[in-house]
Amino acid sequence: MSKQLLNEVKKRRTFGIISHPDAGKTTLTEKLLLFGGAINMAGAVKSRKADRHATSDWMAIEQERGISVTTSVMKFTYRDFEVNLLDTPGHQDFSEDTYRVLTAVDSAIMVIDSAKGVESQTQKLMEVCRMRNTPIITFINKLDREGLSPLDVLAEIEEKLQIECTPLSWPIGMGKSFKGVYNLYQKRLHLFTPGQETRSAQGITIDSLDDPKLDELLGRQADELREDIELLDGAANPFEYDHYLSASQTPVFFGSAVNNFGVRELLDAFVEMAPPPSPRQTQTRMVEPTEEEFSGFVFKIQANMNPAHRDRIAFFRICSGQFTRGMKVKHHRLGKDISLSNATIFMAQERANVEEAWPGDIIGLHNHGTIKIGDTFTTKEELKFTGIPNFAPEHFRRVLLKNPLKMKQLQKGLVQLAEEGAIQVFRPMIGSDYVMGAVGVLQFEVTMARLKNEYGVDAVYEPVDYQAARWIHCDDKKKLAEFERKNQDALAHDAEGFLTFLSSSEWMINYHKEKWPEIEFMKTRENV
Ligand code: G4P
Repeated sequence: MSKQLLNEVKKRRTFGIISHPDAGKTTLTEKLLLFGGAINMAGAVKSRKADRHATSDWMAIEQERGISVTTSVMKFTYRDFEVNLLDTPGHQDFSEDTYRVLTAVDSAIMVIDSAKGVESQTQKLMEVCRMRNTPIITFINKLDREGLSPLDVLAEIEEKLQIECTPLSWPIGMGKSFKGVYNLYQKRLHLFTPGQETRSAQGITIDSLDDPKLDELLGRQADELREDIELLDGAANPFEYDHYLSASQTPVFFGSAVNNFGVRELLDAFVEMAPPPSPRQTQTRMVEPTEEEFSGFVFKIQANMNPAHRDRIAFFRICSGQFTRGMKVKHHRLGKDISLSNATIFMAQERANVEEAWPGDIIGLHNHGTIKIGDTFTTKEELKFTGIPNFAPEHFRRVLLKNPLKMKQLQKGLVQLAEEGAIQVFRPMIGSDYVMGAVGVLQFEVTMARLKNEYGVDAVYEPVDYQAARWIHCDDKKKLAEFERKNQDALAHDAEGFLTFLSSSEWMINYHKEKWPEIEFMKTRENV
């Protein structure tokens, strides 16, 4: 293996931030980018803050797609590390998209509001991380406000998220009496000065907690800190690197993102601890990032990022080898060679042409409808990365076209939006309507708005009596034909042509499962 490849792999960190809306993800992202020199002005990321707004605001913001998209992958350099931060949509209705983005990261940072503790969306995202054992570092935010006691927050994380906590820093007071944090592994005190955004201080080294300097600096809170640390020594779990890597333990930091306090410590610990690009599973074998042969997969597609160009970008995670501009790769699903000539790399505020890229990097590929989520490209060996699924939708609507002459455009719009994974589209075997399926209902409204804006199609939707869907598989062709014949009214094809069973209840699905034991009813489907 080449030395350069090994070095490039070692210095890459590809991660996402998970949090409940309002916990401080945008603020933290911005501070991290400031440290990385990727932006030079506070406020630059704010416009992206779509997650917590009402639907109408969300769409208005989403329409300024230039902003939301250039920030969906943010690359920056910090110390000797090349960091790729992938944005995860925070709104719960986009959890499917979030899941797929998290398939492309090697670790995550979890942000928790110290006053609110563990909230619902954090819990859901944590479940997603657990499915892949993604290592997580925790940042407890907003210490400048009155919140829960640090021990209570840790207890809540352990109980609700079922992950062991190991504090690596400890807060001194909170709210008005917040004095700073004590870094437990560097044995350094960091004093807090509100509003001081460009702290350069390295912290004050306090080798022993008996040091009278502590009393000078903290007054009566020095004894509180001593008591806390004594308590922690006895009760807290010691940090075990392997446990962090296997996602059974999360190191915890405290701070205040808006005051840029504790962020540099977090970032330093992150680059030092977080794993470099990890091996990835394919249908046939594990692929190591240090393999010379280039490989990777598409985890996200975004259409019409630039309305003036009507382009579609496929987000591709490099899993092994080196990418060079113009290289030829095999598109295995189509069995074709394609040339990756105008790939883009995403910086915080701009896109730039990329000449070379390495495992862990995300490149944007121009897509004219030939690339789908889950597609694998390699230079030689036929491989297929696994674990990038479609999830069976839980909500359904029938699409009604206002102007029947626009049928072609409707078809095109729905198929393209389905390729993006924004929505799933089904064509029932009986009738000529389209049925949309989604994991969250906000997706329907966004789809209608995008059909109108991007495809000029005026459509509405109405309720339809489906509550659940399963993809159908059966190796026995005769049985499958019989099943199809007898259940025509409940069967549809999705945008990729896969047979799907649409049902009015889970109960009905179970009933059919028992009745047709040879038929597989699948909750997830991977593109093949
Ligand atoms: P999100 O992306 O997770 O949704 O959260 P975001 O960063 O937008 O932060 C949500 C709110 O919390 C913002 O206030 C932000 O300024 C505030 N915030 C973030 N970190 C801290 C912190 O350490 N301490 C305190 N006290 N507040 C913090 P906002 O009023 O909703 O928005 P804005 O007017 O400040 O933009």
